Amino acid sequence: MRRALLYSTGRFAAAAVLALLAVAGAALAGAQPRPYPVYNEYHLDRTMKLVGRNFEGARQALAAADFETAKALFTRTREQVAVSITYWRHNERDDGVRMLRAVLDGLDALDAALSRPPVDAPAAADLAAGADAACQTCHGVYRTQDPDTGDYSVNLSK
Ligand code: HEC
Repeated sequence: MRRALLYSTGRFAAAAVLALLAVAGAALAGAQPRPYPVYNEYHLDRTMKLVGRNFEGARQALAAADFETAKALFTRTREQVAVSITYWRHNERDDGVRMLRAVLDGLDALDAALSRPPVDAPAAADLAAGADAACQTCHGVYRTQDPDTGDYSVNLSK
């Protein structure tokens, strides 16, 4: 008798939990039309501003032969710029994805060069220039600048 009661209480509790989960699921589905947060133009702009600062700082550290700082800042640059791949995937721009990958490859080669002491400074500077050129390849296609304000934005119409 006691057993039966416990059993049915357990079943009731399980059913109640399932009902609650269904309600919570419906609420979540209603609040979020997409299953993941979209990485949009706003995020791309913020990413690029950070990437620009870190890359510039890294190149300055490299020029000053401060290889440890350079390596750390190039690593930050890589981490930050890598995230923007979402933008090109979401907008179905395979060329954007490819140009970004070229940047990542360049930064990986640079990291390898900075990880092997003694660092060959001119070779590392060349690799940094190569990575920069890869950044500019994409800017040439998808970045546009407002002639009045000087502000940059993305132009997907190209
Ligand atoms: C696949 C394309 C792509 C790659 C690769 C890329 N960028 Fe950009 N970048 C853009 C676009 C598009 C914008 C304009 C977006 C904006 O600023 O709103 C931009 C903007 C910028 C800006 C201006 C930000 C501002 O608004 O002031 C800087 C600085 C910048 N990028 C640096 C870099 C550096 C450094 C790299 C390489 C390490 C890089 N970008 C790689 C597409 C790219």
